Amino acid sequence: MENIITDRLIIRKFKQNDWQDLYEYLSDKEVVKFEPYDIYSENQAKEEEVFRSNDQAFYAVCLKENGKLIGNLYLAKGDFNTWELGYVFNSKYQGKGYATEGAKALLDYAFKDLGARRIVAMCNPKNDHSWKLLERLTMRREGVLLQNIYFKTDSNGEPIWLDTYEYAILKKEWCI
Ligand SMILES: CC(C)(COP(=O)(O)OP(=O)(O)OC[C@H]1O[C@@H](n2cnc3c(N)ncnc32)[C@H](O)[C@@H]1OP(=O)(O)O)[C@@H](O)C(=O)NCCC(=O)NCCS
Repeated sequence: MENIITDRLIIRKFKQNDWQDLYEYLSDKEVVKFEPYDIYSENQAKEEEVFRSNDQAFYAVCLKENGKLIGNLYLAKGDFNTWELGYVFNSKYQGKGYATEGAKALLDYAFKDLGARRIVAMCNPKNDHSWKLLERLTMRREGVLLQNIYFKTDSNGEPIWLDTYEYAILKKEWCI
């Protein structure tokens, strides 16, 4: 893949020496609050860097001005040419429109260059920043799934069930 360039960002594959920036945000409790995993240690971030460098679905989002890796996008192909979008950004670089700018460029790339037919995204209804981002991308809320998933158990070992918003957009609808 060639890098995707936007006004302020370079979107590229993960590579060596990305782990420090990855650690900076994956070790932040607030950033991983709605993720299925817990905060990362330095060693886990190093392993994650290697994993992501070899996984086509992960995209590093970097500032054009200084190369700083400020977050990641995720786009994985599923059945019926439906692709799933994900994103996690360093809290220092949230609230500045970077996630929208990056995700918009990646969706554009997916529809125009990867031949995606439909792109979906899932999030916790309590994760306002996430579903607001999906609405800025003009994705449609297609469903509210009640207690369909859990990432953690309570002190009795019982699942802590979570609801999910499902969002989607079709190629023929993509025009931003
Ligand atoms: C979900 C997440 C990526 C959204 O990031 P975000 O920073 O809110 O989204 P954007 O980068 O598009 O920024 C939008 C905000 O920046 C503001 N903004 C400032 N400058 C801007 C600019 N030049 N262009 C566009 N928006 C700008 C917008 O007004 C908006 O503010 P608001 O949230 O108060 O309405 C981020 O909250 C995150 O990484 N969370 C932790 C991980 C996570 O939960 N991932 C999703 C799991 S489903």
